Amino acid sequence: MSGPDGGDNPIIVALDHSQAGEALKLVESLAPEFDFFKVGSTLFVSEGPAIVRSLRAAGARVFLDLKFHDIPEQVAGAVAAVSDVGVAMLTVHCLGGKEMLEAAASAARSAGHDHPAVLGVTVLTSHGDDLNEIGVVASAKTEVLRLATLALDAGLDGVVASAGEATLLRENLGNDFLIVTPGIRLSGGESADQKRVATPRGAVAAGADFLVVGRPIRNAADPREAAMEILREARREALRHGPVLDSALRLHRVESKGLRSNGK
Ligand code: C5P
Repeated sequence: MSGPDGGDNPIIVALDHSQAGEALKLVESLAPEFDFFKVGSTLFVSEGPAIVRSLRAAGARVFLDLKFHDIPEQVAGAVAAVSDVGVAMLTVHCLGGKEMLEAAASAARSAGHDHPAVLGVTVLTSHGDDLNEIGVVASAKTEVLRLATLALDAGLDGVVASAGEATLLRENLGNDFLIVTPGIRLSGGESADQKRVATPRGAVAAGADFLVVGRPIRNAADPREAAMEILREARREALRHGPVLDSALRLHRVESKGLRSNGK
């Protein structure tokens, strides 16, 4: 949907339900303002590719977030299969290494003209000070920059990172790739298992292209009102803070990856 900043709606709503009926009910309640939805492991394992088809039939764009991490041949096969189902964006895990990331990028490109954008997951936003437990001695920021550099070198379209790293990524890696940030909370909201959180305003100011929001909408007493509040805050920030040039750059990135909304 077109916004006052001339861009489209940057919010992707995470449908982390275990039943298609509940997910589709939320989708319906958020129309027409919201038309980009994330399907993750919980919903996909419960409902299979049929849920993607149902969302597409309802006119939605789908971000399939299964964070593939396997040998290159398996990941290439999974990306090719996902591309056939018609998703707009998907994720692979950067820790799979360059060869795996290249295999994913190449499998997506083979899907033809409107192939899905492939994003590399860097460091989950649920990680905080516990990175050393998994052998990572660098700070989250250093690790995210290292993995994002690898992802872009391998030909991916963008990365998933927290808003706290978005500015660093833009400064070091430029403007020609997508940044998608989960871990979004309105100020004063519950952070639950998310450690590296940001407000919608903080994420937009840091240069994120899309904000993934799950529980703050799904668990709200009035999900539609919560979603609208988040959208209003993101747009206010885009207007207040975003220089015209930044909005234009974002729109260029979103359009060049075929991710502009259907104009609803
Ligand atoms: O409910 P909440 O807003 O915390 O949802 C965050 C969503 O973003 C979840 O669906 C989760 O899978 C996803 N995600 C994340 N961190 C990443 C990548 C995806 O939290 N690095």
